[in-house]
Amino acid sequence: MEKKENIVMFPYMAQGHIIPFLALALEIEKKRGCTITFVTTPLNLKKLQSSIPSNSSIVLLEIPFCSSDHGLPPNTDNTSVLPQSLMSCLDEASLSLKSPFRNLISNLVQHGPPPLCIIADIFLGWTAEIAHEFGLFHAIFCVGGGFGMACYYSLWLNVPHPKPNSNGEFSLLDFPEASTIHVTQMSENLRAADGTDPYSVFNKEALSEWMNSDGVLFNTIEELDTLGLAYFRRKIGGPVWPVGPVLLSAGGAVQEPGTMVEFYKEWLNAKPSNSVLYIAFGSQNTLSASQMMQLAMALDVSGKSFIWVIRPPLGVDVESEFKAKEWLPEGFGQRIKDQNRGLLEQKWAPQVEILSHRSISAFLSHCGWNSVFEAVSHGVPIMGWPMSAEQFYNAKFLEEEMGVCVEVARGPMCEVRHEEIVRKIELVMNATEKRKDMRKKVSEVRDMMKDAIRDEEGFRGSSVKAMDEFFNAASSTREKTKRGPNKYGQRR
Ligand SMILES: *[C@@H]1O[C@H](CO)[C@@H](O)[C@H](O)[C@H]1NC(C)=O
Ligand SMILES: *[C@@H]1O[C@H](CO)[C@@H](O)[C@H](O)[C@H]1NC(C)=O
Ligand SMILES: *[C@@H]1O[C@H](CO)[C@@H](O)[C@H](O)[C@H]1NC(C)=O
Repeated sequence: MEKKENIVMFPYMAQGHIIPFLALALEIEKKRGCTITFVTTPLNLKKLQSSIPSNSSIVLLEIPFCSSDHGLPPNTDNTSVLPQSLMSCLDEASLSLKSPFRNLISNLVQHGPPPLCIIADIFLGWTAEIAHEFGLFHAIFCVGGGFGMACYYSLWLNVPHPKPNSNGEFSLLDFPEASTIHVTQMSENLRAADGTDPYSVFNKEALSEWMNSDGVLFNTIEELDTLGLAYFRRKIGGPVWPVGPVLLSAGGAVQEPGTMVEFYKEWLNAKPSNSVLYIAFGSQNTLSASQMMQLAMALDVSGKSFIWVIRPPLGVDVESEFKAKEWLPEGFGQRIKDQNRGLLEQKWAPQVEILSHRSISAFLSHCGWNSVFEAVSHGVPIMGWPMSAEQFYNAKFLEEEMGVCVEVARGPMCEVRHEEIVRKIELVMNATEKRKDMRKKVSEVRDMMKDAIRDEEGFRGSSVKAMDEFFNAASSTREKTKRGPNKYGQRR
């Protein structure tokens, strides 16, 4: 019997990267029958073990990493526990994985048939050189969307930025199709970038390395994301394969705690259709204390039902106890309890189950691409409150190009007034024309997403085709390597 092909996958050390990588791994395993070697650092590996479904044969492979060797606090294996001020330290620390990664691949190649390819993170483009050293095919997997990442890519590769006009706007030098970017649509480190700071140096280097790869997989859809994908086709020259939506829910994986899921389901079952606002800012973000207060006031005034995944405000240890008395309006918790109107969830909520419930009306989100896709795939319009990185351009894309989003505020620092939030909540959740229009558009996009992954007699969706093309490209490189005089190419 033919041996199964093996694929090596290597995400950056952040939950927002590891989880989509896992989703892609499960999808490739299921659809293509490949085995997956999933490379990650010791503590991330430990956490991941519990996320791998029992019917999966994904092999987790540890790459040695000790955070305290790199000026990081001990036992810091990902961004979840890291203050913003130390993010660039983790970026730099990730470069120390080069030599361990080479050893790991060398081992794999010497002790078994070489893997079909290496799929690595957008920040780990240096793995391409190592892959090629061993005659292996290499791809980047971008967990972000095409448009948002194109803006992000362009901004980091063109530092210093053009002077904004008197409105605070400027055009991207190599991505004018994106219209203008406003200075408030840049994270603090991007706004401060001058080409010599650690973020500029790391990002410029890491993102340039995409060009050494044999192609880029995107968690997006050809028909949806034409502008951004065209940018990358032009920019990096190699193939770009939009294979989305790659979602954990679609991969049929990850057992979430059943009792929690039941609790939310029952609570939502008791609410009318399209009446509840779901609020979550992703695994990495929180609001400032004053923003948190204004949002809570807005929820009070609007009278809408809601589920809010809440964390201590900016500047407070995320692991510390939540002080409702201090950070929320007086009596807020009791009021929403008495009215059975809202839930505050401090750690974790079953996002996919919540978003798929008929009672959910809108999602107030940081516009991370995973969250965006989870919402849109369930036909839920978005209220955007982007926080960092490419989230600002995701929000822009969702609002201006897709018409499924209303932006509420920008970033974890901005001033925001509760009256304004209320106005937006009513615009999106009341029976307005805007709401009708957004819901129509979001269901069109949902259908587009379904079509992209449809694989039936007579119809193959664009993402199915793109995945085929990716596998064909990897296999033909393999064939060439087998024939060529490469000392590592001894297959079977
Ligand atoms: C992130 O790293 C910490 C240790 O630094 C670990 O406890 C946690 O489980 C990790 N989270 C994920 C999602 O891997
Ligand atoms: C594992 O089980 C899930 C849920 O039943 C299913 O969707 C998935 O296809 C299975 N995966 C494999 C590799 O068999
Ligand atoms: C939205 O609906 C609420 C409840 O029905 C109502 O009180 C409010 O005035 C409406 N707002 C707008 C702008 O229509």
